[in-house]
Amino acid sequence: MSAFLKIGTKALHAFPPEMAHGLSLKALKAGLVPVPSIVPDPILRTTLAGLDLPNPVGLAAGYDKNGEVIDPLLGLGFGFVECGAVTPRPQAGNPKPRVFRLSADQAVINRMGFNNAGLVALKAKLSARLGRTGIVGVNLGANKDSVDRTEDYVTSLTALEGLASFFTVNISSPNTPGLRALQSKASLDDLLRQVMTAKRAAPVFLKVAPDLRDEDLADIASSVIENRIDALIVSNTTIERPDSLMSADRAQGGGLSGRPLFERSTALLKAFAQTLDGKVPLIGVGGIEDAATAYAKIRAGAAAVQLYSAMVYKGPGLVSDINRGLAERLKADGFASVGAAVGVDV
Ligand code: FNR
Repeated sequence: MSAFLKIGTKALHAFPPEMAHGLSLKALKAGLVPVPSIVPDPILRTTLAGLDLPNPVGLAAGYDKNGEVIDPLLGLGFGFVECGAVTPRPQAGNPKPRVFRLSADQAVINRMGFNNAGLVALKAKLSARLGRTGIVGVNLGANKDSVDRTEDYVTSLTALEGLASFFTVNISSPNTPGLRALQSKASLDDLLRQVMTAKRAAPVFLKVAPDLRDEDLADIASSVIENRIDALIVSNTTIERPDSLMSADRAQGGGLSGRPLFERSTALLKAFAQTLDGKVPLIGVGGIEDAATAYAKIRAGAAAVQLYSAMVYKGPGLVSDINRGLAERLKADGFASVGAAVGVDV
């Protein structure tokens, strides 16, 4: 990675996290982030739920909530980008401060609460880039004051059909009161049935929390299979606080992401891989910070991976570093493709 990218990332840490996030969006938009010279290695090409990815490393939801910098992000080397979460109506989210850097732990806590510019604004952004290449998905959320949350997912999916490569039903954000209750069996079955009825061409993914009990896992797996969900994303942020956390802000409310989430989210990924037994592809998210952690997710059952928090600490050059390291590891272990390594540790 170039020294410039590292200095840029360090300098951003002089600002409060949400301001740094805004500045990074501005820099990407203005073309101020130098694009790493990427030589795409064909060994990284893979498929996910029928989508052809140039590489398996995606940007997780929550960074580009309003779809403002999709093409610059693809330019950094991401194999796919998930924008959102979008809610039907614009929403301010929780009072600030609502995002915290836990630098000593290489972690983040956020309680943003689905702040976003709303469906109409995202639709305009996606329409403006229609015809461009790149796999771009949309993370769907529900408005905090919505009377029918299921309807919110259906409304956004229907409005954005034809403009996104995939949709993610996100019922795992800890920052919208009651949202995670949609993960319980009866609610989930009803939600997924309605969403899959509204589904047209684009595949639909489901994103779950890492804080599930064994019985939740079995229920979710059966619901995902019965409703023919196209892929399962494991996982969102955790409401748990491991004892290992050292940073002053460790007790802030919200969802914890980054390094301390790796073990828990990877164990859950592996458990889902065992239970689903190849019937539904998995996307591994949570604490990926280098090629080793990305490769571990793939070996634990992930057909593709996503990351967010490590970008805060390691900067935008991280994506191409991970891809380079992944290609090396696949070759060293004698795999001819990403697909060949998926789930070998399960
Ligand atoms: C998130 N994440 C998230 N997830 C989601 O499904 N919808 C969202 O709107 C958001 N928003 C969001 C904001 C911020 C500030 C953070 C840090 C995270 C969760 C994210 O997509 C991912 O699942 C977790 O952060 C775990 O991955 P990392 O960060 O450990 O790589």
